[in-house]
Amino acid sequence: MDLFEYQARDLFAKHGVPVLDAVVARTPEEARAAAEQLGGGTVVVKAQVKTGGRGKAGGVKLAHSPEEAAEKAEQILGMDIKGHTVHQVMVAQGARIAEEYYISLLLDRAERAYLAMASVEGGVEIEQLAVERPEALARVHVDPLTGIDEAKAREIAERAGFADDVRDEVVRVAQLLWTVYREEDATLVEVNPLVRTEDGRIIALDGKVTLDDNAAFRHPEHAELVDRSATDPLEQAAKEKDLNYVKLDGEVGVIGNGAGLVMSTLDVVAYAGEEYGGVKPANFLDIGGGASAEVMANGLEIILSDPQVKSVFVNVFGGITACDAVANGIVGAIESLKAKGEEISKPLVVRLDGNNADEGRRILDEAEHDLVEMVDTMDAAARRAAELAFAAK
Ligand SMILES: Nc1ncnc2c1ncn2[C@@H]1O[C@H](COP(=O)(O)OP(=O)(O)OP(=O)(O)O)[C@@H](O)[C@H]1O
Ligand SMILES: [Mg+2]
Repeated sequence: MDLFEYQARDLFAKHGVPVLDAVVARTPEEARAAAEQLGGGTVVVKAQVKTGGRGKAGGVKLAHSPEEAAEKAEQILGMDIKGHTVHQVMVAQGARIAEEYYISLLLDRAERAYLAMASVEGGVEIEQLAVERPEALARVHVDPLTGIDEAKAREIAERAGFADDVRDEVVRVAQLLWTVYREEDATLVEVNPLVRTEDGRIIALDGKVTLDDNAAFRHPEHAELVDRSATDPLEQAAKEKDLNYVKLDGEVGVIGNGAGLVMSTLDVVAYAGEEYGGVKPANFLDIGGGASAEVMANGLEIILSDPQVKSVFVNVFGGITACDAVANGIVGAIESLKAKGEEISKPLVVRLDGNNADEGRRILDEAEHDLVEMVDTMDAAARRAAELAFAAK
C-alpha cells in the first residue's frame, strides 16, 4: 500500500525523523485555518496524491499568508495530476532551504538485500540523475539482519559525499529512516528532498512510503491508512472475504482456479469478445486450489453483484481439487445464494477439465439449473459467455 505524503510524514514523526509541522485541509477555508494554526507565516500548500511530480504539475505552491494559502488551495484542490484528482492538500510550514539531498531505502530483490540510495544532489529528478550521472547516487546494500546501524549509516553518508558539517545529523536521520522501514514493515521509504535549512537543520521535506501488505497482520493500526475513497467497493468486499479479485471494466464475469489459468481466461474472453460487440472480462478472480462451495459462493456473490456483469464464465481445471468437488461447490454456491434470497439471475458458462471432469459434468447435469450451461473447451466456453453477455447488453 502506497501512502499519502501526510501519512508518510506522520510515520516519520512517530519515529523521530525531523519533519515540519503540517495540517491536512480539504477546502480552501481549512487551508486558511491550517496556515493560521502554523503561525500565519510562509507555508507550502501541497497536493496529496499518490503519484510523483506534483511540484512540476503545479501541485506544490508557496503561500506567504493564510489568505494566500486559501487561494493556493483553491487552485490545487480538484486539480488532476497524472490521472489522480486532488481531494486534499497538506499545508506545511515553509522552510528556508539551503541544500536539497536525496535518500531512500528499498528492497533489492535480485540481491536479496535492502538497498540504501543517497545523493547530495536531491531535488532533481532522481531517475534522471541515476541515468546521467550514476556516480552521484551512492548505492549501498543493507544486510537485513543488521540493518542500518551507525557504521552503515556512516558508510552511506560518506559514499554519497555529505559534507562534514551535516554528516553526523544525516547519519542520525538515516538510522531513524531505517527504524521506520523496519518497524512499519515498509518496502520503500524515500525522502526527496531531504534538506539542510539555512539555520543548519536536516529535515525530511517530502516522504514516500510503501507498506508491505503481506505484513498487514502485524499492523492493525495500518488499516486506517487505507484510502477507502480510492478502493473499489467490490474489491473491498472481496478483500474482506479473502478473495483474490480485481475489478475490470467488461461484462463477462470470470472465475477460475489458479492465477495463470485466470490470466489466460481473461485473454481468451477478450479475444472472443471481439466477435460480440467488444465485450470484455469484468474481473479477475482466482479461487485458488481449494475451490470449496463456500469460496465459490463468495466469488459468485461478488461477481453477480457487479451490475456490469451480464454473464459469468467459470473456468476450472481440476487438479488436486478434482472437478467433482468444484461441481459440488458450484451447486452448493447456487443453493446457498438462493437461501440468502440472491438467486442467480445471470447465465453461467462452466468449463470443467482435468481430474474427474466427467463426474463433475454429471453433477452439474443432474442439478439441472436453467442458467448453468456446460461447454467442453476453454475457447468455445469463452465464446459462449461473450455471446450471452452481448445478447444481454
Ligand atoms: N515546506 C517547504 N518549504 C519550502 N519549500 C518546499 C517545502 N516543501 C517542498 N518545497 C519545495 O518544493 C519542491 C517540491 O516538493 P516535493 O518534493 O514535496 O514535491 P515533488 O517532488 O514535486 O513531489 P513528488 O515527490 O511527489 O514528485 C521541493 O524540492 C522544495 O524545493
Ligand atoms: Mg519530492
